[in-house]
Amino acid sequence: MRLRPYAEEDRDLTAQLERDAEVMRHLGGAAPAGRAERVHERRLERRGEEWYRTILAGPDDTPVGVVAVFRTMWEGRDIHELGIMLLPGRALRHGLGAAAVRLVVEEVRAARTVREIHAFIGADNRAAAMVARRTGFRDTGPCALDYEGEPIHCNHWVLPLETGEPAVGE
Ligand SMILES: CC(C)(COP(=O)(O)OP(=O)(O)OC[C@H]1O[C@@H](n2cnc3c(N)ncnc32)[C@H](O)[C@@H]1OP(=O)(O)O)[C@@H](O)C(=O)NCCC(=O)NCCS
Repeated sequence: MRLRPYAEEDRDLTAQLERDAEVMRHLGGAAPAGRAERVHERRLERRGEEWYRTILAGPDDTPVGVVAVFRTMWEGRDIHELGIMLLPGRALRHGLGAAAVRLVVEEVRAARTVREIHAFIGADNRAAAMVARRTGFRDTGPCALDYEGEPIHCNHWVLPLETGEPAVGE
């Protein structure tokens, strides 16, 4: 398994992920018409300043998902959030999630510009919670959020990183 930068050729991958009821079960459900296209375009627009990565697996490097660390607003703060989606079939529930998260976190850590990564995980999304725990995130408690406008009851997980910048107040 390896990651490569998200690219124009991943339009169909995003469409498959966003429209799949199983993938989207904990993310507000399968996407309504037009959303996958907007998600794809936003990933391309922001790929210079955020970490959008395509997950490749198998001997033929087949694209099987997307993992990302992207900027978002939360409670009036500009934060970095983790997101990951794997395609059903060869990827979802095959133990790839933690490895993909570790790889993107290492890229973010190496940049030394991000103080912490946040993850908002559906309260009953046990696979995602296990992946978060295994990759060093800490559960800070319940919160209410939305995915692309769909309300989600979730837990707020945080992974602190070293930045090389002094903390506020230091
Ligand atoms: C969340 C996700 C990235 C996890 O990656 P994954 O590779 O599928 O996860 P794994 O196969 O390693 O499963 C993690 C653990 O959860 C367990 N698990 C999986 N599904 C489960 C379920 N429905 N209930 C309980 N445990 C479950 C697995 O058994 C595994 O534990 P084990 O290693 O001890 O056997 C992936 O399932 C996914 O893309 N889900 C859809 C999108 C999503 O919800 N993303 C997260 C948004 S925050």
